[in-house]
Amino acid sequence: MATVGLVLLLGGCRRDMQDQPKYKPLHESEFFADHRSERPMVDDTVPRGYLRTDLARYTGKMNGVDINYFPFAITREDLTRGQDRFNIYCSPCHSRLGDGNGLIVKRGYHNPPSYYTDRVMKAPLGHFFDVITNGFGAMPSYASRVMPDDRWRIIAYIRTLQFSENASINDVPPEDRAKLGASATAELANVSSSHPSPQSTTGPNEVPSPFSGVIPPAAPWNPNAAASEQTGRPYGQAAENAGTLPVSDTTTIQGGNH
Ligand code: HEC
Repeated sequence: MATVGLVLLLGGCRRDMQDQPKYKPLHESEFFADHRSERPMVDDTVPRGYLRTDLARYTGKMNGVDINYFPFAITREDLTRGQDRFNIYCSPCHSRLGDGNGLIVKRGYHNPPSYYTDRVMKAPLGHFFDVITNGFGAMPSYASRVMPDDRWRIIAYIRTLQFSENASINDVPPEDRAKLGASATAELANVSSSHPSPQSTTGPNEVPSPFSGVIPPAAPWNPNAAASEQTGRPYGQAAENAGTLPVSDTTTIQGGNH
């Protein structure tokens, strides 16, 4: 009888997990002075995988001075990724050509300088990193949307745009010249004599001329097709001419070190 009583007594003391003292998410607390049960992170907390000791790579500066080199080697994949990010995040204002006449600007937003002005052409790479990270004048910061390594990839792509602005046929490796269309060859041949305006430059991702003015309808999205394309679609002239990006880069790099 005594044993039964003891069992009942102890049973009464049992505390189920669902009844234990705990805070439900965002529940008020009487314990903390600010009444928040969710505690802010301790200052300078570094999440695993986010230790950023490479200052040049994560600030674009060394000893407070803009660096003028890429903190990691830029590959063809990085450039393609940079083009992709540029077209998403920068072209609405800067336009795909970088001349500063993006769609938002055409609708009244503050006009950014063209990337082909002497000053921006000569700006060190770290300056671009700083502009993307912290914003610049009327331009907001893109730090929350463009991860540091992607900023370098975008900068590499901007440098490519800038290079293409004054490129001549001599800059195209002889073995690749045959791949250029007649209009591009003619334009490049003229570069040294007349400096074309940025608007007339056909960037690598622009609609090939002659442009009829009609934008072709987008193909319906098919998740299965997209998934199969993600497995190593080769770079090639065809993909570039079509203005499409190999899907594989975007997906592989996205999971990387942000
Ligand atoms: C919402 C529009 C907008 C977007 C999007 C935008 N910018 Fe800008 N950007 C501007 C404006 C406006 C200026 C000029 C700011 C000023 O002079 O006050 C500018 C200026 C710049 C400059 C020139 C800085 C200088 O030294 O004069 C660079 C470089 C630049 N942006 C790069 C970028 C990059 C890279 C991206 C994409 C990550 C981007 N911008 C996205 C609006 C934008």
